[in-house]
Amino acid sequence: MTSQKWHQNIWPPFTQIASASPPLRVSKGKGALLIRDNGQPPLIDAISSWWVTLHGHSDPYIANAISKQAKELEQVIFADFTHAQAERLAKRLSAHTGLQRLFFSDNGSTAVEVAIKIAFQFWHNQGIERKQLIAFDGAYHGDTFGAMSVGERNIFNAPFQEMLFPVARVPWPQTWWGDDSVESREAMVLKELDRCLEKPTAAVILEPLVQGAGGMSMVRKKFLQAIEKKTREAGALLIADEVLTGFGRCGALFAFQRAGIKPDLIALSKGLTGGFLPMGVTMATEEIFEAFIGNEPELTFWHGHSFTANPLGCAAANASLDLLERKPMAYEDFESRHLPHLKDLEKHSKVQKPRLTGSIAAFDIAVEKREGYLNPIGRIFKKKVIANGVFLRPLGQVVYLLPPLCISDDQLEQCYSAIKVSLDYL
Ligand SMILES: Cc1ncc(COP(=O)(O)O)c(C=O)c1O
Repeated sequence: MTSQKWHQNIWPPFTQIASASPPLRVSKGKGALLIRDNGQPPLIDAISSWWVTLHGHSDPYIANAISKQAKELEQVIFADFTHAQAERLAKRLSAHTGLQRLFFSDNGSTAVEVAIKIAFQFWHNQGIERKQLIAFDGAYHGDTFGAMSVGERNIFNAPFQEMLFPVARVPWPQTWWGDDSVESREAMVLKELDRCLEKPTAAVILEPLVQGAGGMSMVRKKFLQAIEKKTREAGALLIADEVLTGFGRCGALFAFQRAGIKPDLIALSKGLTGGFLPMGVTMATEEIFEAFIGNEPELTFWHGHSFTANPLGCAAANASLDLLERKPMAYEDFESRHLPHLKDLEKHSKVQKPRLTGSIAAFDIAVEKREGYLNPIGRIFKKKVIANGVFLRPLGQVVYLLPPLCISDDQLEQCYSAIKVSLDYL
C-alpha cells in the first residue's frame, strides 16, 4: 500500500508511508529556520536536520567556500592524486584530535565501517589473534552491515540478524538529573566489561558522552574513563563514534576531550562539513597506520569510495572548522543557554529524566509503557510542536533539542514554549 501524500518516485528513509504524516515541503533554509512552500509558517529546525546542520542553514561563509571550490576542482580520484583542501583538512583535524592519520569516506556509517575494518586488520596484519568486538546496549552506529552489527539489535535490523557478525555487549548506564543509582549501575557494567575483556578483544566501540539514536542517553565522564582504562589494560583498541557528538555538540570540540579519554580511532561525519555535504572521516593513530605499511600487498587497507576526499566536501569542512575555531564560545557556552529552560521544564509533571550535555538537551515524556522508538506518543507530540512552529523528531518517548549553534535566544525560548504547550496537550 502506498500513500498519495508522498511523491510516487521517492522512497523516503526511516519512514512507513502507510501511516506517516505527509512530508513538509521546504524551499529554503536560513539560520535555524526552514522556510516552507505555499506560505506555510517557517519552522525552527530544533534537531539540526538529523543532527548535521552545525552553524545554520545556508551559512554564507560555507556556501561561498563550496561555490569557490566548485569552480576550481570539483572532484578527482584520490588514489593517485591529492589536493590542497584534503591536506589542509587532514592537518587541522590531526592537530585537533591528536590522531595523526585521516581516512576519508562518505557518511557516518562508512566512517564507522572503516574504523571497524581498520581495528580488525590492525591485529590481523601483526598476526595477532584478536577478533572480539565489544559494543554497548542501545548503541546506533549506522545502517551498513558492520555498523548494524555493532549497533543494538532491534526492529531496524531484524531482517538481517543472521548476516550480522557477533559482538559482545555490555549495558550502557545512562544517567540524568537526580539519578541516585548511577554509581551502582556503572559498577555492574564495569564488572561485565571485565568479563568480556577476558577474551582477546580487537576493539571496544562507543558513542562518547551521548548515545544518540538510542535515546539521547548520557553517561558520566568517570564511566568513560574507567572503560578506557580497562580497554587499555586488556590491550584492545578504543573506537569513539563521534558522528553525532563531534564538532562542538557536547560542549568541547570533541566529546572524547570533554570526557578526558583518548581513543585510538575516531569516526566523524554529520557536522564535519557544517552539514552541507555528505562526508565521513576516520582518524587513526600513527601506530595503527604503521601496521599497514610494508612491501607485502596484503598489509594494505584495501578500502575506498568513489568520492573519497571530494574537494567540495573538504572545502565545506575547512570552512566549518574556520567558524568553529573563530568562535569556540558558540559551542562551549551552549549548555548554559539550555540550562534555565530545562530547569524550568523539569517541574512539568510529564517530564522525566531531564539531561543535558553541550547543545543536546533531552527528557523522557512520562508514559505508562516505555515502548522505545516506536512509542506513538512521540508522533502525537511531534505534530503538536510542529503546529507551534518548531520541528522536533522525538525518539519514541524521548524528546530532545539539538539546534544549530546559530539559534537565537528568542528562537530557543520559542522551542521550549512549544514543548511546554505540547506537553500540556498530551
Ligand atoms: C553515532 C552515530 N554513528 C553513525 C551514524 C550513521 O551516520 P550516517 O547516517 O551518516 O550513515 C549515526 C547517525 O545518526 C550516528 O548517530
